[in-house]
Amino acid sequence: MITEKAPGKLYIAGEYAVVENGYPAILVALDQFVTCSISESAKEMGQIISRQYNNDQLSWRRMGDEMVVDKRDNPFSYILSAIRVTEEYARSYSRALRIFDLHIDSQLDSQSGRKYGLGSSAAVTVATVKALCRFYNLPVNKDQIFKLAAIAHFEVQGNGSLGDVAASVYGGWISYHSFDRQWLAQQRQYLDIHSLIDLPWPDLKIESLKAPKNLELLIGWTGKPASTSQLVDKISLFKARQQAEYRKFLDESKACIQRMVEGFHMQDLEKIKQEIRYNRELLKQLGTNSGVDIETPVLNDLCQIAEEFGGAAKTSGAGGGDCGIVAIDSSADFKSVLKSWAKNHIEQLPLNVHFIKDAKYKVEEYLPIN
Ligand code: PMV
Ligand code: MG
Repeated sequence: MITEKAPGKLYIAGEYAVVENGYPAILVALDQFVTCSISESAKEMGQIISRQYNNDQLSWRRMGDEMVVDKRDNPFSYILSAIRVTEEYARSYSRALRIFDLHIDSQLDSQSGRKYGLGSSAAVTVATVKALCRFYNLPVNKDQIFKLAAIAHFEVQGNGSLGDVAASVYGGWISYHSFDRQWLAQQRQYLDIHSLIDLPWPDLKIESLKAPKNLELLIGWTGKPASTSQLVDKISLFKARQQAEYRKFLDESKACIQRMVEGFHMQDLEKIKQEIRYNRELLKQLGTNSGVDIETPVLNDLCQIAEEFGGAAKTSGAGGGDCGIVAIDSSADFKSVLKSWAKNHIEQLPLNVHFIKDAKYKVEEYLPIN
């Protein structure tokens, strides 16, 4: 049995702007995982089994007389896409495809079906790609795993930046510049997957960052799940209608993230905090201008409480629910933040940043198949 795991993530800053090619965001990987185990099946039929995804629901809408299912919130879509893409890559190495059972276990979706917004679709995609790369004995490094998982995820979700996939593959703190996904979609039609994985991808840039020692990251959960893809769709409408305002938001977000990255390079917590606050304002403004509820009242409470005790806080990710993040000096009174959150029905998620060793899989290191 082969087992691989991939961590969940949170956005620290740069949300929405990072959806545009080449625009940056900062993310962290967290120590909550999706695990994927694969074993060869002796039967003619393989199984894909998940404890958490049994009672999942489907969203659908009408388009004329057709019932159109929104696959983007269904984890099985990501698992199947990851299998399809990785097997395409395996074929480029002349591997014979086999029948297997695949077990998924997710700490990112609670047993009661609660979703925290920690990037379960990205993590399930990455875990499946990693497990299958080992199952088929494919020599891959992090860059190649990222590209395979990014293709698989993009072919289901269609409108994301793939920053969550990057955080899940590289771990720790990263700055991520999104690649040109239109280019990818075009090249997918002409190029074989092997050549595509070997090429540099336009605008893609991923840098590992080192957080200052005194930076304590707090995570608050609103208790309300939010659908990222639906929120991103709504911002796309704003982009079409108010182009000038949208461009202004993009430029300001980019400049803010560049300054924040400098803060990381200089190990300057105050500078990082200042830019978190600024990014919060940009996102609030984007919400007001577009009519999208990014910073909900609960997220606003979460941020206000953290600010009272000297933290710099903002929504994390698409907002509309899910989580908020706080950067605070480890010597500050952050326990009071947690107490006040609890009084206001905001749950702290006591998670840590997860780092991934730079393991480059080598074919020779694998156990021979059979
Ligand atoms: O809500 P999350 O954690 O899935 O983050 C979404 C971040 C966006 O920038 C709004 C979308 C994206 O794909 O980057
Ligand atoms: Mg979210």
